[in-house]
Amino acid sequence: MAKLDQNELLFERAQKTIPGGVNSPVRAFRQVGGTPRFVTRAKGPYFWDAEDKRYIDLIMSWGPMIAGHANPEVVAAVQRAAETSFSYGAPTEGEIELAERICALMPSVEQVRMVSSGTEATMSALRLARGYTGRDLIIKFEGCYHGHADSLLVKAGSGLLTFADSTQNAPSSGGVPQDLVKHTLVLPYNDIAAIEAVFKKQGDHIAAVILEPFAGNMNLIKPSTEFLSTIRNLTSKHGSVLIYDEVMTGFRVALGGAQSLQGITPDLTCLGKVMGGGMPMAAFGGKKEIMSKLAPLGSVYQAGTLSGNPVAVAAGLKTLEIISREGFYECLTGQTEKLMHGLKQAADKANIPFAVDSVGGMFGFYFANEVPTSFEAVTKTDIEAFKKFFHLMLGEGVYLAPSAYEAGFTSIAHDNAVVDTIVTAAEKSFKSL
Ligand SMILES: Cc1ncc(COP(=O)(O)O)c(C=O)c1O
Repeated sequence: MAKLDQNELLFERAQKTIPGGVNSPVRAFRQVGGTPRFVTRAKGPYFWDAEDKRYIDLIMSWGPMIAGHANPEVVAAVQRAAETSFSYGAPTEGEIELAERICALMPSVEQVRMVSSGTEATMSALRLARGYTGRDLIIKFEGCYHGHADSLLVKAGSGLLTFADSTQNAPSSGGVPQDLVKHTLVLPYNDIAAIEAVFKKQGDHIAAVILEPFAGNMNLIKPSTEFLSTIRNLTSKHGSVLIYDEVMTGFRVALGGAQSLQGITPDLTCLGKVMGGGMPMAAFGGKKEIMSKLAPLGSVYQAGTLSGNPVAVAAGLKTLEIISREGFYECLTGQTEKLMHGLKQAADKANIPFAVDSVGGMFGFYFANEVPTSFEAVTKTDIEAFKKFFHLMLGEGVYLAPSAYEAGFTSIAHDNAVVDTIVTAAEKSFKSL
């Protein structure tokens, strides 16, 4: 019998005390098969596994590590903060600074409340939207992930007309009551007719529309300008709250988030990932008129023992300072585009149908002739080819997201040499597909 390597041994051991051996399902390599890599350390664009093999990281903790792993400036800020205790449960000046910084970078955010995860941010934003409007119904889009709150774990029932009849919704997770998901309408992304039809029928009952302004949880899918403007116009007309879930895109696609690129002013915005620089930190914010409905000012309750945690605030503040420096996004965007161009050229040379897309430091690649624009289109890409490519690249020391339904992420540490190494690995991998 072949001897198990260190990753395999750790995975066996993990499965005894942790369900599936992981603390978040996608880490388990279920779509691609094989053994998850157990990380021992990371630096810049690299991490090392339990066999001490080095990988170029193209998920960067699923987005947060935009300044590179163990960035010395962020590490120093965290060390300084840690020396004065990890948590107080009382307010600090750092929280004000972070709030002021966010409001300055994202003008639609007049006030902001800090929480500890993206899930908490979206869940709280929805409660606030419902409390503010006095309505129950919410709209989300197929393939968008907004964390694991009950009312967001819903997919549409069959047929397009289902969108107008949420009693047909099926929860996409066990443990979610049917009664709860009947308040969630699920529409196809980029489908203007569908959103117009729903608002025509029940616009005055809709508390909120929540969307990923660039979807990154079904690979990278961009919205059309008309889709966004239709949503903004309809929500304004009917007094529904438009929630931009920028947990992934905030400070990743541009300094002002997706909203700054799209020219849309949402009513509420959810943030996470980059804003905590890799620490458990997230937030939701927006119009003062809506935010003032939150406790202790208003009747909508929301709280957290570790909210605005001082060590996380220090990491977030330093990360926001780094990304605010001149040229940061030009460099990040340029390197990401260079990487996508290189992958596309490598696939073309091997005659493999392949499409690429990117925005800022977020990218998507698809085993298909064209970039998809909906969840349905993503499911029609060649998932088997992706799985093989994933393992070939892993063998070459490049760690891609272990699912064809996830976007990829770069950092400022992904320099020319790193990009060239990835492209060389891809050339080899495409030849063996
Ligand atoms: C767009 C979006 N919203 C919300 C979340 C949930 O964030 P968290 O995993 O921090 O709870 C995620 C996580 O990937 C996300 O991508």
